[in-house]
This record gives sequence, C-alpha cells and structure tokens, in this order.
Amino acid sequence: MTGPAPLMEVDDLAKHFPLPRRGLGARGAVRAVDGVSFRVAPGEVLGLVGESGSGKSTVGRLALRLLEPTRGAVRFEGRDITAQSLRQLRPLRRSMQMVFQDPYASLNPRRSVGQAIGEVLRLHRIGDRADRHDRAAALMTKVGLSPADLGRMPREFSGGQRQRIAIARALAVEPRFLVADEPVSALDVSIQAGILALLRGLQAELNLAMLFISHDLSVVEVMADRVMVLYLGRVMEVGPTRTIFTQPRHPYTAGLLAAAPRLDRGDGGEARVVLRDEIPSPANPPSGCVFRTRCPFVLPACATEVPQPRALAPGHQMACIRDDLRF
Ligand SMILES: Nc1ncnc2c1ncn2[C@@H]1O[C@H](COP(=O)(O)OP(=O)(O)OP(=O)(O)O)[C@@H](O)[C@H]1O
Ligand code: SF4
Ligand SMILES: [Mg+2]
Repeated sequence: MTGPAPLMEVDDLAKHFPLPRRGLGARGAVRAVDGVSFRVAPGEVLGLVGESGSGKSTVGRLALRLLEPTRGAVRFEGRDITAQSLRQLRPLRRSMQMVFQDPYASLNPRRSVGQAIGEVLRLHRIGDRADRHDRAAALMTKVGLSPADLGRMPREFSGGQRQRIAIARALAVEPRFLVADEPVSALDVSIQAGILALLRGLQAELNLAMLFISHDLSVVEVMADRVMVLYLGRVMEVGPTRTIFTQPRHPYTAGLLAAAPRLDRGDGGEARVVLRDEIPSPANPPSGCVFRTRCPFVLPACATEVPQPRALAPGHQMACIRDDLRF
C-alpha cells in the first residue's frame, strides 16, 4: 500500500441483526452491513453516502465499537478494537468520538453546557476542576459561542448552537478520529453551511480524521476528501471526491447523482440513471449484485456473480461486472 499508514483500517466488516423467529423456519437476519472494507488516513475525511437504510449509521457505530460486529475487523492505529476488552478500549475511546444528527437527543436537558463538556473531560480523567472549566471555555470560543454561556441549559440554544456544543464536547478530549452521522440533516438549510464550515475548519486545524455520513451529496461534496457509496450494506464505489462526482463508474453512484441534480452539473443527458423502485429488504437481499433489481444495465450474469471491488485508478474502486459504462 502507498501513502501514509492508515489511522483506521476496516476489513470485511459485517453486522447482521437477527430477526424474531417465525414458526419453525430458520431464523433470518437483517444484513445491515455485509462485507465492508475501507481505510482512513490521519487527517482524512471519508464521506459515506447511500439511501436511507443502506447501513451508513451501522458502519459508523461499528467503527467506534458502539456495536459488536458479526464478523470483520476494525483496526485503529494497528490495533484490532473488535478484539479488545472494554477495559483495553477505554484509552482508545478518547481518540474516537461521535457527533450525531440530533444534538438535543445527545445532550442531557438537565445539565448545563459547562457540565456536559466537563463531564466528558472528567470521564477521561483530564485536568482538575479549574482546568476543565478553562478548557470548556476555550472550546466554546472555538465553536463560535461565548464562554459566558457555559451555565446555560441546552434548551436555551438554537438547533445550530446545540450542534456547535455537541461538536465542542466531542472535541474536548482531543480525538484523532470523529464519526459525524448526518450532523446537519436536522438543521435548517440556512444554518447548515456555517456548521459545515466550522467542522471543516476544525478538522483541518486539528488534523482530525473523519467518517462523514450523509444522504445529502452536496454536503458530502464540500466535506469529504474521498467518498464511499454504500448500498444494502455493501460498498458499490469508492474514490476521490472529484472523481466520484464527475466520473462515477457504478450505476448506483450515477443514479444517486442524477437524483440530486445541480445547476453546474446539468442533468447528465442520455446517461442519466433513474433509480426506480425501492431498496429491497436487507433481510432478503438479491443474489449476485445486490443492486441488480434496480439497475438499468443489468445482465443475466448479475444474478449469479457477486461483483468484487476492483481498481479503476489509484484510489478509485467499484463493484460492477461491466466495464463499458460511462456516465
Ligand atoms: N438495532 C437494529 N436492529 C435491527 N435492525 C437494525 C438495527 N439498526 C439498524 N437496523 C437495520 O439495518 C439497516 C441499516 O440501517 P442504518 O441505520 O445503518 O441505515 P442508514 O444508512 O444509516 O439509514 P438512514 O439514512 O435512514 O439513517 C436498516 O434496514 C435498519 O432497519
Ligand atoms: S453488476 Fe450488473 S446489476 Fe450490478 S451494477 Fe453492474 S450491471 Fe448493474
Ligand atoms: Mg443513519
């Protein structure tokens, strides 16, 4: 492998949620994530896109071991975190933080902002009381809020301000890796750009690696260095952001882009891929290529062959058996 040593390496990760048993038949499972591999370099932002239910949040939670995988490995700085005891994980938890879609749900409504930030510092045994207060004040400034507001309660802030507080709390312990799961999706469009600029600025300043999850392609385009496209728990395509947006090679990527038209991209003319029908159930995914029931370019072989990711250019991979498609 070339380039810097990865901060995070994920190999053949899977999460199957068992379904309740029905009658005497075998117990089925929702294959939320089914064989996902990727790398994130220090200071790199990997965008994760896909329709609702494609397994994005599950990948994010597995990467931080907030969920136990069904199979596969997650290595952080070379150590397999899926094989570590909870005690061994403790110091690593500090290096890996998460920002969620709904900042209100992740902030305790009965604790002041200062208490919320102080608590995470105390949990990781960082500083004494005075240090923790100073740190919390500095963080407030860093995220564009006033240290004078540390005593206020979450409900006294707007949605955008609350997401700034959630970001401050996640960064308080100086993580090297952040999972941001739809961090602006719950916010008014008019305030999304400010939060994204803040996140991007802090990410660069702190050389923070990030798994940035969003169903909104325009948001991923401004945030990510590379983009990974997920469908029914599998990686369809991964590559540099510019390549994915201008020269997608997987029909699903082309379909996602066509469904989110932009003025400067045109409508793709004849190559426009219309995503018809709904995503099949991950409890009963199609054989062969999981995208085949919606793919306009499907061939008989797509029902039997599971396309393996293959390299098209350095850093650009996709999983489709066809070589002739251009969008
Ligand atoms: N705890 C769980 N138990 C059972 N099924 C689950 C659980 N969590 C997720 N799933 C299922 O796994 C699949 C993937 O879910 P996930 O939340 O990872 O998708 P997502 O891409 O984040 O979707 P969204 O864009 O709606 O957030 C879905 O079919 C979902 O219903
Ligand atoms: S493998 Fe077949 S069904 Fe899957 S994306 Fe390629 S052409 Fe479509
Ligand atoms: Mg999700």
